[in-house]
Amino acid sequence: MGDEMGIFEVMYNCRAMRRLKPDPVPDELLVKLVDAANQAPSGSNAQNGRWIVVSDQSQRERLAELNRKGVERYIQGQRPTAQPHHDPDKRQRMLDAVLWQAEHMHEIPALVIACLEMASDPPENFFAGANAGGSIWPGVQNLLLAARALGLGAAPTTLGLGNRKAVKEVLNLPGNIEAFCLIPVGYPLGKFGPVTRRPVEEIMRWDRWS
Ligand SMILES: Cc1cc2nc3c(=O)[nH]c(=O)nc-3n(C[C@H](O)[C@H](O)[C@H](O)COP(=O)(O)O)c2cc1C
Repeated sequence: MGDEMGIFEVMYNCRAMRRLKPDPVPDELLVKLVDAANQAPSGSNAQNGRWIVVSDQSQRERLAELNRKGVERYIQGQRPTAQPHHDPDKRQRMLDAVLWQAEHMHEIPALVIACLEMASDPPENFFAGANAGGSIWPGVQNLLLAARALGLGAAPTTLGLGNRKAVKEVLNLPGNIEAFCLIPVGYPLGKFGPVTRRPVEEIMRWDRWS
């Protein structure tokens, strides 16, 4: 598999791949992923996405520990056991994969952290989501698509980034750089497959909602 997959084939087959082999990913491929991410748009063309590729073992262990704590909180918290578009079996398989990832994250060869550089330090209670994320998430998606096209597994994760102070300390981030997404990247243990999404008729209207 190479760059030959068409863009629609990549989009429709870009599942969150959480079970990854420990085999290293060549640096040039990791640079290629971040370069692809860097082609995404940003508000006012600020080009303020910043990317940290973590392959150092002790750094991966520290991030994996933060993720493990985040996953524990998520599992214990109030979460729906099923949703209209996600039957209980599928949901259980997703949770099993999240738990697998939590146990093995330190073995995954590269943890890519998508960050945003801001004009000034954000407030103490800054929430790394919603509006603020508009200039970094398109890059995250570019990276996921590029990984899929290259036969690499990847998944967007945020559970390990909840403790902002700890994340900043591990990554030595200055006050005005925030981490938004942690993307473990490696060669997949399982098979790639199509994504399952609600049908377009359900989520689309013409001209107005009703
Ligand atoms: C904003 C956002 C945050 C996410 N956070 C996590 C996470 O912390 N851990 C995780 O395993 N997956 C995380 N995911 C991945 C989603 O669970 C995944 O994209 C969704 O279940 C669809 O999976 P599929 O593409 O394989 O169908 C996140 C996805 C998004 C878009």
